[in-house]
Amino acid sequence: MSYLDDVFGLKDVTAVVTGGAGVLPKAMAGFLAKAGAKVSVWGRGTSHPVSDAVEQLRREAAAVGVDAVIDGQTVDTGDETAVSDALRRTEAAIGLPNLLINGVGGNKGKSAFVDIDTDVFREVVEMNLLAGLVIPTKVFARVWVDRGVTASIINLASMTSYLPLSGVWAYGAAKSATLNLTYATAKEFAANGIRVNAIAPGFFVGNQNKALLIANEATGELTARGQAIIDHTPYGRFGTIGDLEGTTLFLASPRASGFVTGVCVPVDGGYLIDNI
Ligand SMILES: NC(=O)c1ccc[n+]([C@@H]2O[C@H](COP(=O)([O-])OP(=O)(O)OC[C@H]3O[C@@H](n4cnc5c(N)ncnc54)[C@H](O)[C@@H]3O)[C@@H](O)[C@H]2O)c1
Repeated sequence: MSYLDDVFGLKDVTAVVTGGAGVLPKAMAGFLAKAGAKVSVWGRGTSHPVSDAVEQLRREAAAVGVDAVIDGQTVDTGDETAVSDALRRTEAAIGLPNLLINGVGGNKGKSAFVDIDTDVFREVVEMNLLAGLVIPTKVFARVWVDRGVTASIINLASMTSYLPLSGVWAYGAAKSATLNLTYATAKEFAANGIRVNAIAPGFFVGNQNKALLIANEATGELTARGQAIIDHTPYGRFGTIGDLEGTTLFLASPRASGFVTGVCVPVDGGYLIDNI
Protein backbone atom coordinates (compact mmCIF):
# COMPACT_ATOMS: atom_id res chain seq x y z
CA MET A 1 0.00 0.00 0.00
CA SER A 2 1.36 3.45 -0.92
CA TYR A 3 1.75 6.27 1.57
CA LEU A 4 -1.12 8.18 -0.08
CA ASP A 5 -3.37 5.09 0.08
CA ASP A 6 -2.55 4.79 3.74
CA VAL A 7 -3.43 8.42 4.54
CA PHE A 8 -6.33 9.07 2.16
CA GLY A 9 -7.50 5.57 1.15
CA LEU A 10 -10.98 4.68 2.43
CA LYS A 11 -10.97 0.87 2.42
CA ASP A 12 -12.22 0.83 6.04
CA VAL A 13 -14.99 3.34 5.36
CA THR A 14 -18.60 2.38 4.70
CA ALA A 15 -20.57 5.46 3.74
CA VAL A 16 -24.16 6.52 3.30
CA VAL A 17 -24.63 9.55 1.06
CA THR A 18 -28.12 11.02 1.35
CA GLY A 19 -29.48 12.86 -1.66
CA GLY A 20 -26.94 10.65 -3.39
CA ALA A 21 -28.62 10.79 -6.79
CA GLY A 22 -28.34 14.61 -6.79
CA VAL A 23 -25.49 16.51 -8.43
CA LEU A 24 -23.05 17.26 -5.60
CA PRO A 25 -23.81 14.27 -3.33
CA LYS A 26 -23.50 11.83 -6.26
CA ALA A 27 -20.11 13.28 -7.11
CA MET A 28 -19.03 12.95 -3.48
CA ALA A 29 -20.23 9.32 -3.43
CA GLY A 30 -18.09 8.73 -6.51
CA PHE A 31 -14.95 10.15 -4.85
CA LEU A 32 -15.48 7.87 -1.85
CA ALA A 33 -16.03 4.79 -4.02
CA LYS A 34 -12.92 5.46 -6.11
CA ALA A 35 -10.90 5.80 -2.89
CA GLY A 36 -12.03 2.31 -1.81
CA ALA A 37 -15.06 3.01 0.42
CA LYS A 38 -18.22 0.93 0.30
CA VAL A 39 -21.02 3.35 -0.49
CA SER A 40 -24.78 3.36 -0.19
CA VAL A 41 -26.56 6.02 -2.21
CA TRP A 42 -29.81 7.15 -0.60
CA GLY A 43 -32.41 9.10 -2.54
CA ARG A 44 -36.13 9.67 -2.72
CA GLY A 45 -36.14 8.19 -6.19
CA THR A 46 -38.56 10.82 -7.45
CA SER A 47 -36.76 13.06 -9.93
CA HIS A 48 -33.41 11.20 -9.87
CA PRO A 49 -33.66 7.37 -9.75
CA VAL A 50 -31.27 5.78 -7.25
CA SER A 51 -30.61 2.78 -9.53
CA ASP A 52 -29.30 5.10 -12.29
CA ALA A 53 -26.92 6.74 -9.82
CA VAL A 54 -25.66 3.34 -8.60
CA GLU A 55 -25.02 2.19 -12.18
CA GLN A 56 -23.20 5.42 -13.07
CA LEU A 57 -21.01 5.27 -9.95
CA ARG A 58 -20.07 1.62 -10.60
CA ARG A 59 -19.12 2.47 -14.21
CA GLU A 60 -17.04 5.49 -13.16
CA ALA A 61 -15.19 3.51 -10.47
CA ALA A 62 -14.55 0.66 -12.93
CA ALA A 63 -13.07 3.19 -15.35
CA VAL A 64 -10.30 3.91 -12.82
CA GLY A 65 -9.82 0.21 -12.04
CA VAL A 66 -11.90 0.02 -8.84
CA ASP A 67 -14.46 -2.77 -8.43
CA ALA A 68 -16.63 -0.63 -6.17
CA VAL A 69 -19.19 -1.94 -3.70
CA ILE A 70 -22.15 0.38 -4.22
CA ASP A 71 -25.61 -0.08 -2.78
CA GLY A 72 -28.69 2.06 -3.33
CA GLN A 73 -31.70 2.70 -1.10
CA THR A 74 -34.89 4.58 -1.91
CA VAL A 75 -35.84 6.50 1.20
CA ASP A 76 -37.32 9.84 2.23
CA THR A 77 -34.79 11.08 4.79
CA GLY A 78 -37.46 13.32 6.31
CA ASP A 79 -39.19 10.20 7.67
CA GLU A 80 -37.44 8.91 10.80
CA THR A 81 -38.89 5.40 10.64
CA ALA A 82 -37.97 5.11 6.98
CA VAL A 83 -34.40 6.23 7.76
CA SER A 84 -34.08 3.58 10.52
CA ASP A 85 -35.37 0.93 8.09
CA ALA A 86 -32.99 2.07 5.34
CA LEU A 87 -30.08 1.95 7.75
CA ARG A 88 -30.97 -1.68 8.61
CA ARG A 89 -31.19 -2.56 4.90
CA THR A 90 -27.87 -0.83 4.22
CA GLU A 91 -26.16 -2.70 7.05
CA ALA A 92 -27.47 -5.99 5.67
CA ALA A 93 -26.24 -5.09 2.17
CA ILE A 94 -22.76 -3.62 2.79
CA GLY A 95 -22.16 -3.53 6.57
CA LEU A 96 -22.76 -0.86 9.19
CA PRO A 97 -21.89 2.59 7.82
CA ASN A 98 -19.27 4.63 9.67
CA LEU A 99 -19.61 7.75 7.53
CA LEU A 100 -22.77 9.76 6.84
CA ILE A 101 -22.77 12.48 4.21
CA ASN A 102 -25.88 14.60 4.69
CA GLY A 103 -26.36 15.61 1.05
CA VAL A 104 -30.13 16.19 1.00
CA GLY A 105 -31.01 19.84 0.56
CA GLY A 106 -31.76 22.59 -1.87
CA ASN A 107 -33.62 25.80 -2.50
CA LYS A 108 -37.00 26.52 -4.11
CA GLY A 109 -37.27 29.84 -5.94
CA LYS A 110 -36.90 33.29 -4.41
CA SER A 111 -39.18 36.12 -3.37
CA ALA A 112 -39.38 39.38 -1.49
CA PHE A 113 -39.70 38.75 2.24
CA VAL A 114 -43.25 40.12 2.27
CA ASP A 115 -44.19 37.62 -0.45
CA ILE A 116 -42.91 34.52 1.36
CA ASP A 117 -45.13 31.51 0.73
CA THR A 118 -45.09 29.98 4.20
CA ASP A 119 -45.87 26.49 2.87
CA VAL A 120 -42.80 26.61 0.63
CA PHE A 121 -40.77 28.13 3.50
CA ARG A 122 -41.72 25.20 5.73
CA GLU A 123 -40.96 22.69 2.98
CA VAL A 124 -37.47 24.14 2.36
CA VAL A 125 -36.60 24.26 6.07
CA GLU A 126 -37.82 20.70 6.51
CA MET A 127 -35.87 19.50 3.50
CA ASN A 128 -32.57 21.12 4.49
CA LEU A 129 -32.74 20.86 8.24
CA LEU A 130 -34.80 17.81 9.15
CA ALA A 131 -34.34 15.58 6.08
CA GLY A 132 -30.94 17.13 5.34
CA LEU A 133 -29.39 16.87 8.79
CA VAL A 134 -31.35 16.29 11.99
CA ILE A 135 -33.17 13.02 11.24
CA PRO A 136 -30.30 11.07 9.62
CA THR A 137 -27.82 12.41 12.20
CA LYS A 138 -30.09 11.39 15.07
CA VAL A 139 -30.74 7.88 13.70
CA PHE A 140 -27.11 7.14 12.78
CA ALA A 141 -25.62 8.63 15.95
CA ARG A 142 -28.06 6.67 18.11
CA VAL A 143 -26.77 3.42 16.58
CA TRP A 144 -23.11 4.49 16.68
CA VAL A 145 -23.28 5.57 20.33
CA ASP A 146 -25.15 2.41 21.38
CA ARG A 147 -22.65 0.15 19.62
CA GLY A 148 -19.51 2.18 20.42
CA VAL A 149 -18.70 2.81 16.75
CA THR A 150 -16.11 5.43 15.78
CA ALA A 151 -17.65 7.35 12.91
CA SER A 152 -17.98 10.65 11.13
CA ILE A 153 -20.50 12.97 9.50
CA ILE A 154 -20.08 15.52 6.72
CA ASN A 155 -22.84 18.12 6.34
CA LEU A 156 -23.47 20.34 3.32
CA ALA A 157 -23.44 24.00 4.32
CA SER A 158 -23.53 26.93 1.89
CA MET A 159 -22.34 30.49 1.34
CA THR A 160 -25.62 31.54 2.94
CA SER A 161 -24.58 29.73 6.14
CA TYR A 162 -22.27 32.72 6.73
CA LEU A 163 -24.09 35.76 5.30
CA PRO A 164 -27.63 35.86 3.88
CA LEU A 165 -28.22 35.59 0.14
CA SER A 166 -31.11 37.80 -0.96
CA GLY A 167 -34.54 36.30 -1.57
CA VAL A 168 -33.88 32.72 -0.42
CA TRP A 169 -35.09 33.16 3.14
CA ALA A 170 -35.84 29.60 4.15
CA TYR A 171 -32.70 28.23 2.50
CA GLY A 172 -30.57 30.81 4.35
CA ALA A 173 -32.27 30.10 7.67
CA ALA A 174 -31.76 26.36 7.26
CA LYS A 175 -28.17 26.58 6.04
CA SER A 176 -27.07 28.92 8.83
CA ALA A 177 -28.58 26.38 11.21
CA THR A 178 -26.58 23.67 9.41
CA LEU A 179 -23.38 25.44 10.45
CA ASN A 180 -24.63 25.90 14.01
CA LEU A 181 -25.63 22.24 14.28
CA THR A 182 -22.32 21.11 12.77
CA TYR A 183 -20.52 22.85 15.65
CA ALA A 184 -23.06 21.74 18.25
CA THR A 185 -23.14 18.06 17.27
CA ALA A 186 -19.34 17.97 16.89
CA LYS A 187 -19.08 18.89 20.55
CA GLU A 188 -21.95 16.60 21.59
CA PHE A 189 -20.48 13.51 19.93
CA ALA A 190 -16.75 14.10 20.45
CA ALA A 191 -16.72 11.93 23.57
CA ASN A 192 -18.15 9.09 21.45
CA GLY A 193 -15.40 9.38 18.81
CA ILE A 194 -17.84 10.76 16.23
CA ARG A 195 -16.49 13.64 14.16
CA VAL A 196 -18.87 16.15 12.56
CA ASN A 197 -17.65 18.53 9.87
CA ALA A 198 -19.14 20.40 6.93
CA ILE A 199 -18.27 21.52 3.45
CA ALA A 200 -19.63 24.87 2.25
CA PRO A 201 -19.63 24.72 -1.55
CA GLY A 202 -19.64 28.05 -3.33
CA PHE A 203 -21.85 28.14 -6.40
CA PHE A 204 -22.05 24.90 -8.36
CA VAL A 205 -24.80 24.42 -10.92
CA GLY A 206 -27.11 21.78 -9.39
CA ASN A 207 -30.67 20.69 -10.19
CA GLN A 208 -32.10 22.78 -7.40
CA ASN A 209 -30.40 26.12 -8.28
CA LYS A 210 -30.04 25.93 -12.08
CA ALA A 211 -32.99 28.23 -12.78
CA LEU A 212 -31.58 30.88 -10.44
CA LEU A 213 -28.16 30.90 -12.13
CA ILE A 214 -28.59 30.00 -15.83
CA ALA A 215 -30.93 31.98 -18.12
CA ASN A 216 -30.37 29.86 -21.23
CA GLU A 217 -28.88 26.36 -20.95
CA ALA A 218 -28.19 26.12 -24.67
CA THR A 219 -26.09 29.30 -24.84
CA GLY A 220 -24.83 29.25 -21.23
CA GLU A 221 -26.21 32.78 -20.76
CA LEU A 222 -26.41 33.62 -17.05
CA THR A 223 -29.21 35.24 -15.09
CA ALA A 224 -28.40 38.64 -13.54
CA ARG A 225 -28.00 36.78 -10.24
CA GLY A 226 -25.66 34.22 -11.82
CA GLN A 227 -23.51 37.00 -13.31
CA ALA A 228 -23.43 38.87 -9.98
CA ILE A 229 -22.14 35.70 -8.32
CA ILE A 230 -19.37 35.27 -10.89
CA ASP A 231 -18.43 38.94 -10.46
CA HIS A 232 -18.20 38.34 -6.69
CA THR A 233 -16.07 35.19 -7.03
CA PRO A 234 -12.33 35.96 -7.25
CA TYR A 235 -11.79 32.82 -9.35
CA GLY A 236 -14.40 34.17 -11.82
CA ARG A 237 -16.31 30.94 -12.37
CA PHE A 238 -18.82 28.53 -10.84
CA GLY A 239 -17.44 25.49 -9.04
CA THR A 240 -16.97 22.28 -10.95
CA ILE A 241 -17.50 18.86 -9.42
CA GLY A 242 -13.78 18.04 -9.16
CA ASP A 243 -13.29 21.07 -6.90
CA LEU A 244 -14.94 19.09 -4.08
CA GLU A 245 -12.78 15.98 -4.43
CA GLY A 246 -9.84 16.66 -2.11
CA THR A 247 -11.91 18.18 0.69
CA THR A 248 -14.32 15.23 0.61
CA LEU A 249 -11.51 12.67 0.83
CA PHE A 250 -9.71 14.63 3.55
CA LEU A 251 -12.77 14.89 5.82
CA ALA A 252 -13.82 11.30 5.08
CA SER A 253 -10.46 9.77 5.95
CA PRO A 254 -10.06 9.04 9.67
CA ARG A 255 -6.30 8.86 9.15
CA ALA A 256 -6.11 12.26 7.40
CA SER A 257 -8.55 14.20 9.59
CA GLY A 258 -9.03 12.08 12.72
CA PHE A 259 -8.46 15.07 15.03
CA VAL A 260 -10.58 17.47 12.92
CA THR A 261 -14.10 18.06 14.13
CA GLY A 262 -16.51 20.99 14.12
CA VAL A 263 -15.03 22.70 11.06
CA CYS A 264 -16.67 23.87 7.88
CA VAL A 265 -14.44 24.07 4.82
CA PRO A 266 -15.56 26.57 2.17
CA VAL A 267 -14.85 25.40 -1.40
CA ASP A 268 -15.81 28.62 -3.10
CA GLY A 269 -13.12 30.14 -5.33
CA GLY A 270 -12.73 32.91 -2.75
CA TYR A 271 -16.40 34.01 -2.67
CA LEU A 272 -16.42 34.42 1.12
CA ILE A 273 -13.33 36.62 1.24
CA ASP A 274 -14.36 38.99 -1.57
CA ASN A 275 -15.00 42.49 -0.29
CA ILE A 276 -13.57 45.37 -2.34
N1 LIG B 1 -25.21 23.37 -5.98
C1 LIG B 1 -24.68 24.31 -5.20
O1 LIG B 1 -24.16 25.34 -5.68
C2 LIG B 1 -24.67 24.15 -3.73
C3 LIG B 1 -23.99 25.11 -2.97
C4 LIG B 1 -23.96 24.99 -1.57
C5 LIG B 1 -24.59 23.93 -0.97
N2 LIG B 1 -25.25 23.01 -1.71
C6 LIG B 1 -25.90 21.91 -0.99
O2 LIG B 1 -25.44 20.66 -1.48
C7 LIG B 1 -26.51 19.70 -1.35
C8 LIG B 1 -26.77 19.07 -2.71
O3 LIG B 1 -27.14 20.09 -3.62
P1 LIG B 1 -27.24 19.85 -5.20
O4 LIG B 1 -27.06 21.17 -5.82
O5 LIG B 1 -26.41 18.70 -5.62
O6 LIG B 1 -28.79 19.49 -5.29
P2 LIG B 1 -29.59 18.32 -6.04
O7 LIG B 1 -31.01 18.75 -6.07
O8 LIG B 1 -28.94 17.92 -7.31
O9 LIG B 1 -29.42 17.08 -4.99
C9 LIG B 1 -30.20 16.96 -3.83
C10 LIG B 1 -30.87 15.59 -3.85
O10 LIG B 1 -31.58 15.41 -2.62
C11 LIG B 1 -32.78 14.69 -2.91
N3 LIG B 1 -33.74 14.89 -1.83
C12 LIG B 1 -34.41 16.02 -1.49
N4 LIG B 1 -35.21 15.79 -0.43
C13 LIG B 1 -35.03 14.48 -0.09
C14 LIG B 1 -35.57 13.65 0.92
N5 LIG B 1 -36.47 14.11 1.81
N6 LIG B 1 -35.17 12.36 0.99
C15 LIG B 1 -34.27 11.87 0.10
N7 LIG B 1 -33.70 12.61 -0.89
C16 LIG B 1 -34.10 13.90 -0.98
C17 LIG B 1 -33.23 15.29 -4.24
O11 LIG B 1 -34.16 14.44 -4.88
C18 LIG B 1 -31.89 15.42 -4.97
O12 LIG B 1 -31.61 14.23 -5.69
C19 LIG B 1 -27.70 20.46 -0.77
O13 LIG B 1 -27.68 20.37 0.64
C20 LIG B 1 -27.41 21.89 -1.19
O14 LIG B 1 -28.06 22.81 -0.36
C21 LIG B 1 -25.32 23.09 -3.08
